[in-house]
Amino acid sequence: MELTEAKEGNTRFFIPVQDTSHSFPPKTSPVFYNPRMEISRDATVLLVSILKPSQYLDAMGASGIRGLRIASECGIPVSINDRDRRAVALIERNAEMLGIPVEVLHSDTNVLLSGKAYEAVDLDPFGSPAPFIDSGIRGSGRYLFVTATDTAPLCGAHRNAGIRRYFAAAMNNEYHAETALRILLGFLVREAVKYDRGVEPLFCFSREHFVRVHARLQKGALAADRSIARMGYVMQCPSCPYREEQQGILPEPGSCPLCGAALRPIGPLWTGSIQENELLMQMESTLPAFSLGCSSQLQQLITTCRQELPFSYHYDYHVLARHLRVSPPPIRAVIKALVGDGYSATRVHYSGTALKTDAPLEVLLEALTTRE
Ligand SMILES: C[S@@+](CC[C@H](N)C(=O)[O-])C[C@H]1O[C@@H](n2cnc3c(N)ncnc32)[C@H](O)[C@@H]1O
Ligand SMILES: [Zn+2]
Repeated sequence: MELTEAKEGNTRFFIPVQDTSHSFPPKTSPVFYNPRMEISRDATVLLVSILKPSQYLDAMGASGIRGLRIASECGIPVSINDRDRRAVALIERNAEMLGIPVEVLHSDTNVLLSGKAYEAVDLDPFGSPAPFIDSGIRGSGRYLFVTATDTAPLCGAHRNAGIRRYFAAAMNNEYHAETALRILLGFLVREAVKYDRGVEPLFCFSREHFVRVHARLQKGALAADRSIARMGYVMQCPSCPYREEQQGILPEPGSCPLCGAALRPIGPLWTGSIQENELLMQMESTLPAFSLGCSSQLQQLITTCRQELPFSYHYDYHVLARHLRVSPPPIRAVIKALVGDGYSATRVHYSGTALKTDAPLEVLLEALTTRE
């Protein structure tokens, strides 16, 4: 395998020379590396530097860059695993080049996590993390971090695959990035509560082709019950833009207050908060001390996430404007009009045309006809 040097944060490492005849990983090299995920790694480095777990397992290392960065940029004892021997050889070589003491493991993630627990576990598979969440929970003392790149099943584009993997029904509509994040969190909750453990989302976001969850796992039946209480559905009207959140294990049938159509459930999914605000504030103040490749994008992401209302759906104001047959005013004008009327309204981290508000839909539609 021919290697070339790369750098993320303060960490230099080798990656395989990329085959440019393929347009994106994993086909571009025998051991995976995707530079588009640098922001996700930057986010984890920043968060872990604040959480300071006593151990961190990069359970699916590939080049090892995620774990190597945690070891060298956060100074935390790290183990890095992969079942592919070429990946293991590359991780060993990278650790040797950096001169940092990293434990390198050659195992199947599910086997490894069935025999040993780590304070923080990071699952970063190809596609769906669903087959690894159970062992991830059993093998995690306190923190579980998960990437999902199977956005088509999570978003409802491949509805049956989403049902098979997550036992949740998504709907491929304009807020599917939100649904994807919350269906994954809901799946984590359902896998955790059977062990009397609860899930506390810390910093979770949807971006481009992936969803990233950073969560704290709590112990005890009470914590598990608290998490179950935040499970529910988004009830979407099939005939108009109306939607509402509903809590509970089973969806209760309901009809649209605007047009009378029967509402359709999306879920089960997590309806609680997806961020821990104090942690996000700490991340914002710590970020300038780090040399991160995606510093400004990450800063913007954290700030938008911190300000974002904790609702399980958003309205896309372009979609609503089309529905009203008006040309959309600037989003800041819509937010200003709603806030001026005493409602809360914010932007949303994964889309420039999305807004979350506690204003009733009729009020939002009215605000869309307001001009500055
Ligand atoms: C998406 S890559 C990991 C990327 C890496 N964490 C990064 O940030 O660049 C997924 C890796 O998981 C490994 N993998 C897939 N299934 C596995 C399993 N069951 N056990 C251990 N490793 C596995 C693959 O060999 C691959 O190297
Ligand atoms: Zn309706």
